[in-house]
Amino acid sequence: MSEAAKRAAARAALDFLPTSGVVGLGSGSTARLFIEEVGRLVAAGRSLVGVATSGDSRALAEHLGIPLLDDAGPWEVAVTVDGADEVSAVLDVIKGGGGCHTREKIVNQASAINIIVADDSKLSRQLGEKWPVPVEVLAFGHQATRDRLRELAPTELRTRDGKPWITDAGNYIYDVKFGPLVSPAATDALLHTIPGVVETGLFVRRAQRVLIAGPHGVRSLEPSS
Ligand code: A5P
Repeated sequence: MSEAAKRAAARAALDFLPTSGVVGLGSGSTARLFIEEVGRLVAAGRSLVGVATSGDSRALAEHLGIPLLDDAGPWEVAVTVDGADEVSAVLDVIKGGGGCHTREKIVNQASAINIIVADDSKLSRQLGEKWPVPVEVLAFGHQATRDRLRELAPTELRTRDGKPWITDAGNYIYDVKFGPLVSPAATDALLHTIPGVVETGLFVRRAQRVLIAGPHGVRSLEPSS
């Protein structure tokens, strides 16, 4: 996805922000552009306060002068804008390509409205067609947890520079290659039965709007009820 398309999706999300209030700041390269836009609004005098979904987003927001609420919460978030790795036809979402999905899901649940910004390469018919499901796992006993995950589908430890990828919370990420999911909600529930699983990257019915950037502009999609 080109930077211009990402920015077009990020800018389209500005129309959904409150005049003043609390905004959830997503993570990843598209959300980063959104945070830059929020920074411009705040610099121009708009009274917005952020909740950061990752250390990187917090650092960027601080750099831009966006006031932030404490990480501890609780928060009453008006709108959260976040990216996605895959968006299904019914607007269920896989997140966690950047390993931030646990924090993202906590902020998502605290938000009255959740908006996903992405490009049309992220669209799929059935969730899981394009991406494995990222699963954040407690470091303690993670290889035992991995073996339980492998009973469900091929599972790989995510690494960076040959070392385990460590999340902001000090946990590991396993990517579980289910393939197309018949029921993302059932898969999410099943994963949560495994001790050591902290959170999954399955966001089921958690997007009230998806802004998709493509060659002909930005489409605004809403799930059918
Ligand atoms: C972070 O863990 C993710 O959920 C991101 O929001 C997701 O990977 C999308 O990132 P990009 O906007 O960089 O594609």
